[in-house]
Amino acid sequence: MTKPRVFVTRRIPEAGLNLLQESCDVRVWEDELPPPREALLREAADAEGLLCLLSDRVDAALMDAAPQLKVISNFAVGFDNIDITAATQRGLPVGHTPGVLTETTADLAFALLMAAARRIVEAVHYVQEGRWKTWGPMLMLGQDVHGATLGIIGLGRIGQAVARRGRGFDMRVIYHGGSNEEAARAIGAERRPLDDLLAEADFISLHVPLTPETHHLIDARAFERMKPTAVLVNTARGGVVDSKALYHALKSGQIAYAALDVTDPEPIPPDDPLLTLENCLIVPHIGSATHATRSRIALIAAQNVLAGLHGERLPHCVNPEVYGAQR
Ligand code: DGY
Repeated sequence: MTKPRVFVTRRIPEAGLNLLQESCDVRVWEDELPPPREALLREAADAEGLLCLLSDRVDAALMDAAPQLKVISNFAVGFDNIDITAATQRGLPVGHTPGVLTETTADLAFALLMAAARRIVEAVHYVQEGRWKTWGPMLMLGQDVHGATLGIIGLGRIGQAVARRGRGFDMRVIYHGGSNEEAARAIGAERRPLDDLLAEADFISLHVPLTPETHHLIDARAFERMKPTAVLVNTARGGVVDSKALYHALKSGQIAYAALDVTDPEPIPPDDPLLTLENCLIVPHIGSATHATRSRIALIAAQNVLAGLHGERLPHCVNPEVYGAQR
């Protein structure tokens, strides 16, 4: 019996690949960079399963170029790289990997928050560059995390996990967005209208998906509301922040610091003005990047593929409408 063909758009941890290889004819894109568009179209052409990454654009044209496709499985919890409406119209279930990366991504968000508050990256450069001459009463002064107000925008799974970390550091937590009031109560987070949160928070951490509604949610107007000492942390998606407005806000001292795991575009071009700023810390989208978590993501992504190939409901489906059910 011929095995179903699955195209995997990059090498992923073995936990997922091995599972797929047990019952599928798996082709893996081995390059470090994503497959160029033509390669993606070519490889998907006779695939029944597609396991893709957030750096792959999966649109209607790609779906139409892959007539045998039964399932799309994203190696991520976010799925803004996939045209979900087009997939649903074609009866294609789309899988993603919620839950398993929540705590890991929250760890990174909090690491960025701490690093920004205490200017860790600047301080490391200071020492490496041989500029450390003596202990200084005014040297590298940062901001207290304990006792500060943490504003979470998007109190979903990851937002809640960051809020819990904030509470563990004796922060006061306020939030906007996310409908789970019981979770908010359990954490001790108080709801605020967006403008109030922007004005009140010392640290603002973004945890909303990228949608037409959240695109540039943090724009010039939002920065105007923030404190001059505010720190912005983004581990969500780069497009949630207007990068030009962010540059202006950081350069002019409208806010104090930004710590970003995600940028727009991604990767950030080496000549982007944000990279010239000492008060902007950028890491390369590593929110879920631990050995254990990436293995768990790989396993779930593979399980989603297998379920789709067998005509079963995906364990983690973004568009259950394809099964005639509500999300
Ligand atoms: C996701 O899964 O959406 C994350 O951004 C990957 O780290």
